Amino acid sequence: MMRILVLGAAAGGGVPQWNCNCGICRDARQGGNGIGRSAQASVAVSADGDNWFLINASPDLRQQVTDNPQLHPRHGLRHSPIAGVILTNGDVDAIAGLLTLREGSPFTLYAHDNVLGILRANSIFNVLSPVHVKRQPIQLETPFALTLPDGRPSGLDVTAFAVPGKVPLYLEGGEPNPDAVDTVGLLVENGDSRFYFIAACADVTPDLARRLSGAPMVFFDGTLWQDDEMIKGGLGAKTGRRMAHLSMAGAQGSIESFRPIEVGRKIYLHINNSNPAWNPDSPERHQLAQAGWEILPDGTEISL
Ligand code: MLT
Ligand code: MN
Ligand code: ZN
Repeated sequence: MMRILVLGAAAGGGVPQWNCNCGICRDARQGGNGIGRSAQASVAVSADGDNWFLINASPDLRQQVTDNPQLHPRHGLRHSPIAGVILTNGDVDAIAGLLTLREGSPFTLYAHDNVLGILRANSIFNVLSPVHVKRQPIQLETPFALTLPDGRPSGLDVTAFAVPGKVPLYLEGGEPNPDAVDTVGLLVENGDSRFYFIAACADVTPDLARRLSGAPMVFFDGTLWQDDEMIKGGLGAKTGRRMAHLSMAGAQGSIESFRPIEVGRKIYLHINNSNPAWNPDSPERHQLAQAGWEILPDGTEISL
């Protein structure tokens, strides 16, 4: 058995984004058109309901902890149910929340060594003292057990695998490294319960389709509806492809790519505020729902 808590479904910036005056961000501020606010993408997972592991540490982490009683301190004067954090990439929206966790509670940080290297190279992350925060490198395709700060097993096992991605925006322009593992997907398991978490992904390759076939549940990159929607909306110059995010719509999009793959629940996250599917009454939302996809409000808990 596992409990999975959706801490945020939005892409970088969130919904609403601080400086965005687009229709969706305006509605989210004012409660219009049934568009709820959403924090930047992250989920928490627990096998026992007492100890929780975050998948990614979003810039909204402080608010996400405050908003979700599952993550509140329970014992003594200083305590947190957060036993660990697993990072899937080094983007700002995946790591900035680590700075919120600097107050001296013990937890383990799991990430591929490329991402740990980014943290090592940015000394601000030294606020996570090695006395309290163990940094554990993830080997690809090698299942590992998530452990509690006192060394006991959490009941959760994780397998990381590389997915098509790119270096974080703030590292673009350096020497390209074709061997770099920039983005990983995760399989999280407890006995017969399992789910996949893939918050950034540029392509559903045949390998990935095979891997996901028969999965009871998948969280998947839902950044854009259409590759050029930020350009068309006057919000930015980048396509989804340029950002290494597969769009929902279109022949190559995630809706079509997942059609032949047998997956129990398909849940979008890392959804950008430019994506019209945020509107529950939009044709785009109906289209994705008809294809079996869900967008979940922050704070939704799933038992698996
Ligand atoms: C992304 O998801 O592509 C990044 O969060 C973009 C960014 O860093 O602005
Ligand atoms: Mn992002
Ligand atoms: Zn916006």
